[in-house]
Amino acid sequence: MFNIPRHVAIIMDGNGRWAKQRFMPRLAGHRAGMEAARQVVKNCAKRQIKVLSLFAFSSENWRRPAQEVSHLMDLFLTGLEREAQMLHENNVQLRFIGDRSRLSEKLLKKISDVEALTKPNAGLVLIIAVDYGGQWDITQAVQKLARAVEDGALRSADITADSIAAHLSFADLPDPDLFIRTSGELRMSNFMLWQLAYAELFFTDVLWPDFSEKELDLALAHYAKRERRYGHSSEQLSENSC
Ligand code: FPP
Repeated sequence: MFNIPRHVAIIMDGNGRWAKQRFMPRLAGHRAGMEAARQVVKNCAKRQIKVLSLFAFSSENWRRPAQEVSHLMDLFLTGLEREAQMLHENNVQLRFIGDRSRLSEKLLKKISDVEALTKPNAGLVLIIAVDYGGQWDITQAVQKLARAVEDGALRSADITADSIAAHLSFADLPDPDLFIRTSGELRMSNFMLWQLAYAELFFTDVLWPDFSEKELDLALAHYAKRERRYGHSSEQLSENSC
């Protein structure tokens, strides 16, 4: 058995290019991306990974053509309708993170139904980030602390990295150990900026719909080989492991 990350975070990129290469509409790429997401959930659960975070729609994705945004929202809704029972039966706990204020009533209702259905599950925690941005997350955490200062419940001097982290969307879960981005882009694109501080980064040229079980294993093998030092020297780590 090799060193398995507890939390894997993925930016699923390249659906549009995958479709373009096949002279298909972008929506076909997103549909294929949905299937790849289904497979990666199954494969992470099989490998005993505790948390999987998928970046499905960023705060900036609202800038895409209205028709594509509407297709994506429809795809999320039908995907949830189709997969909710399967996720539940596989003991997956589904959680959505992000700013819910711009989502449709119908999607919000479905999200809260599926969250409630899967809440007791103790298997893989699947986080779907929709209308999410790392800067949004840090901002909302800092706003909560600022309100506590205004109310006299907290002193500004007591605001620490730990207290900010405690108010982020993933506060009860371990930070990602491994970050994966597909399609050859070498950016974080405002995903989980705080929580990725010490994550190992894995970039691949493979487009998201082609991200297979083999690609996942490649990323996991890279992770297993890396030495996570958290600021310590290599020598300190080998002394401690003796
Ligand atoms: C990136 O491709 C993908 C997205 C913007 C989001 C949509 C993701 C899915 C449909 C996958 C599964 C979703 C869930 C809810 C699990 P892109 O359009 O940025 O591709 P491009 O960079 O090639 O144009």
